[in-house]
Amino acid sequence: MALTKEQVLASLEGVKSPEGIPLPKTGALSEVVASDGKVFFSISVDAAEVKAWEAVRKRAEDAVRALPGVQSALVALTAERKAGAPPARPQGGAPAGARAAPRGESMQGVPGVEAIIAVASGKGGVGKSTTAVNLALGLAALGLRVGILDADIYGPSLPKLLAIKERPQTLGGTRLKPITRYGLTVMSIGFLIDEETPMIWRGPMVISALTQMLREVEWGTLDVMVVDMPPGTGDAQLTMAQQVPLKGAVIVSTPQDLALIDARRGISMFKRVNVPVLGVVENMSYFLCPQCGTRSDIFSHGGARHEAERLGVPFLGEVPLHMTIREKSDAGLPVVATEPDGPHAKIYRDIAAKVRDQLKGGAGRAAPKIVIEA
Ligand SMILES: Nc1ncnc2c1ncn2[C@@H]1O[C@H](COP(=O)(O)OP(=O)(O)OP(=O)(O)O)[C@@H](O)[C@H]1O
Ligand SMILES: [Mg+2]
Repeated sequence: MALTKEQVLASLEGVKSPEGIPLPKTGALSEVVASDGKVFFSISVDAAEVKAWEAVRKRAEDAVRALPGVQSALVALTAERKAGAPPARPQGGAPAGARAAPRGESMQGVPGVEAIIAVASGKGGVGKSTTAVNLALGLAALGLRVGILDADIYGPSLPKLLAIKERPQTLGGTRLKPITRYGLTVMSIGFLIDEETPMIWRGPMVISALTQMLREVEWGTLDVMVVDMPPGTGDAQLTMAQQVPLKGAVIVSTPQDLALIDARRGISMFKRVNVPVLGVVENMSYFLCPQCGTRSDIFSHGGARHEAERLGVPFLGEVPLHMTIREKSDAGLPVVATEPDGPHAKIYRDIAAKVRDQLKGGAGRAAPKIVIEA
């Protein structure tokens, strides 16, 4: 029988907080993710109490591992809560531990970074990372100071897409100096781990890794940080969307119905956590034959535009399926940087201008104060 969240929570009843409270009753548990014998959740604690909680984290991991059918259990401590702030309580009626982690006011931004935006998709392989890189370069071409963070800890792409082999240097203590490429400030978990290392996260993991890449990297002063998100809209992605202080999200979709269903899920995920959707990009929108220039609508065409209109979110543009984009992207030579006068670069710059305008116009809540030199 498949392992359930309830079994996991029941096993955690025997694990006590430093104050002696059973873990599911502390209000510190994130959503519990249990699938295919793998269990993941995080415990949100005061930064000052991390040491005391480390033993609890370990016991929680051991308790879950002892359950039949569990292959791996990964429990992360996140020190997001401000010292002195009361822990959020599970909502009435909801099973303990099933609450969403708090977001918004309690979440601090990254000092020096004006706006953080996510590039996301419900479905994998739709060209999210390619779009994130070229969008970041497009924003830089508009005169903004831009960083890009690879939050796809399961399959980081930025080392490849930006042909980065070097490792970031440590700047005393634990702070890291990001890599600079094509004028972008870049950080990826892929810089720190071997490409061959299987992506099984142990100990302080997913969220901790993300928190570290946000807060323990010298990002400097940035107008925009673009975050390349992992694909999907599951609990892990939701937690990520909650843990990063996002000003907005760009959704990438291909035009097929199946991808659009996932894009819709992505849009509603961000809406659920109060992150404004800055717009939808239709990638692989149409095929342009490199030999004859003939256009074919392989995956049909216009689906994402239509869907954006239907859902009342901006449509940002169409990127064709083109050999040059793939070849350049996979060779670490993104088109916006290496063929700035070409047609593809123009498309990405136009998308970037719309994103910038969305941010300037204050999409949804809290408008970032971006000053743009024309
Ligand atoms: N417009 C395009 N034209 C041609 N090839 C493209 C285009 N966009 C992306 N690709 C190619 O499609 C593949 C997948 O793209 P990418 O890695 O950006 O997708 P992704 O959504 O980030 O994938 P994942 O879900 O695995 O993170 C890559 O080989 C990339 O070069
Ligand atoms: Mg990717």
